[in-house]
Amino acid sequence: MKRVLITGAAGFLGSHLCDRFVEEGFHVIAMDNLITGDLKNIQHLFKFKNFEFYHHDVSKFVHVPGKLEYILHFASPASPIDYLKIPIQTLKVGSLGTHNLLGLAKEKNARILIASTSEVYGDPLVHPQNEEYYGNVNTIGPRGVYDEAKRFQESITMAYHTYHGLETRIARIFNTYGPRMRLNDGRVVPAFIGQALRGEDLTIFGDGSQTRSFCYVDDQIEGIYKLLLSNYCYPVNIGNPDEITIKDFAQEIVKLTGTNQKVIYKPLPTDDPLQRQPDIKKAKEILGWEPKVKRIDGMRLTLDYFNRLSSEELNKSEHRDFLKS
Ligand SMILES: NC(=O)c1ccc[n+]([C@@H]2O[C@H](COP(=O)([O-])OP(=O)(O)OC[C@H]3O[C@@H](n4cnc5c(N)ncnc54)[C@H](O)[C@@H]3O)[C@@H](O)[C@H]2O)c1
Repeated sequence: MKRVLITGAAGFLGSHLCDRFVEEGFHVIAMDNLITGDLKNIQHLFKFKNFEFYHHDVSKFVHVPGKLEYILHFASPASPIDYLKIPIQTLKVGSLGTHNLLGLAKEKNARILIASTSEVYGDPLVHPQNEEYYGNVNTIGPRGVYDEAKRFQESITMAYHTYHGLETRIARIFNTYGPRMRLNDGRVVPAFIGQALRGEDLTIFGDGSQTRSFCYVDDQIEGIYKLLLSNYCYPVNIGNPDEITIKDFAQEIVKLTGTNQKVIYKPLPTDDPLQRQPDIKKAKEILGWEPKVKRIDGMRLTLDYFNRLSSEELNKSEHRDFLKS
């Protein structure tokens, strides 16, 4: 049985990856310090013999007994609310954490895939964003802690590849949504859905003309799985190119939830990217992958999940405090 270590396993993407690799018959070693994740995302897997969990901070030395064929490094705060609240941990997990996991991969002779992000492109001057674009990032702005950690993560990963001959994969992940996102983590999809379900007005930052392109989680996991098993070591964009303005997206949410909310506007946060659309030519050619789930279908599945949450969960205050600040 092949053994895979998944870091950030109790988070949104990490937990879906755990599902996929358990299903594919791998032995999954899940690791998380639960700083933004939740064990409830993986509790259904504890009954399986091919699943085990370590509560550990990967910014500290990482030890895993036995052999390892693959490592998927997904540990990192990922929403602006999180990384503004814990900037140092964000920088550490992208740098020290990645270094620790590359060292582990080298020791075990394992292949490692790191979760990079479209945020390496910053507020892009090229549209759509292809892998050859170097990005436009403010190193010292509030988002720099995340964006630069991810850029460093890519650099050190390539250095391990070229210097040590390590098998590395780099996924540049664009906005992904679906069940198990935290309703109140401030990312656009759960933020709008949460406000609609609580009967609050939907908050748009800026004038709403900024764009995003949302990928449903099942498509994302398939892309990552294919990239891991490919023989391509350079960055690959994984995302859905179906671009929409935030203003239009807010209207879609109002329609989908059958609510009658108004939209209110607040100033755009510093360095918020004005446009986001992945160029997925590489993923199509190299992985034979492209997203299949239409936004309307993915959003319905996501809404079903949020509709099942308790009212206590629905009314948690992180995002509302952020909106007030
Ligand atoms: N979801 C997206 O749209 C998206 C887009 C681009 C990149 N990514 C990347 O994918 C990865 C997962 O993102 P997500 O959306 O699932 O976020 P998430 O916050 O739901 O999950 C991250 C997980 O990492 C864990 N973690 C954080 N620091 C850790 C540490 N030092 N040691 C161990 N565990 C730690 C958290 O507790 C959490 O469970 C991140 O690296 C993120 O940068 C996600």
